[in-house]
Amino acid sequence: MISDIEKVLLSEEEIEKTVKTLAEKISADYEGKKLLLLGILKGSVVFMGDLMKHLTIPTQIDFMRVSSYGHGTVSSGRVNIVLDLFRNDIGECDILVVEDIIDSGKTLSYLVQYLKNKGARSVKTCTMLDKPSRREVDFTPDYVGAKIPDEFVVGYGLDYNEDYRALPYIGILKREVYEK
Ligand code: PRP
Repeated sequence: MISDIEKVLLSEEEIEKTVKTLAEKISADYEGKKLLLLGILKGSVVFMGDLMKHLTIPTQIDFMRVSSYGHGTVSSGRVNIVLDLFRNDIGECDILVVEDIIDSGKTLSYLVQYLKNKGARSVKTCTMLDKPSRREVDFTPDYVGAKIPDEFVVGYGLDYNEDYRALPYIGILKREVYEK
């Protein structure tokens, strides 16, 4: 697994510092609100687990699963809801959607509108990684851990064909791994 990594982009230490900084800001911004962290499976789980531990305000969690990618490196562009959010108190929830990465922006832009239409009190977005150069729709996340170049990254929840999610750092995958 480690031999498949070209370069470490964000080390465990850098990730921890980034997550703490995000958690401080979110804790201050959501003081007095009813924060619902909404993780988008599967990529967000590691980031979400770390983020929630560092929040200093009361927080609830929930998950949705959408699929927009096939088993490859290129987005199909379609957003399908595989696991929906079922709550009867959504009108009282200040939802913060938690993602591992934003690429084209299609997933989050669709989800924000979807959750607003469901009646959420507020909807904001938080992503560990952002690839602004890949954007295909006009979308700006509210909280970003790190902006990264257009490289194929894995680890810290991010996969290639479901592998590498458990790596504790974020690394660039060797081209030969997905081009073979
Ligand atoms: C990734 C990521 C986002 C989406 C971002 O999920 O977690 O949900 O792609 O891409 P976009 O900005 O182009 O819409 P993926 O479909 O790879 O599923 P996973 O989280 O289960 O790995």
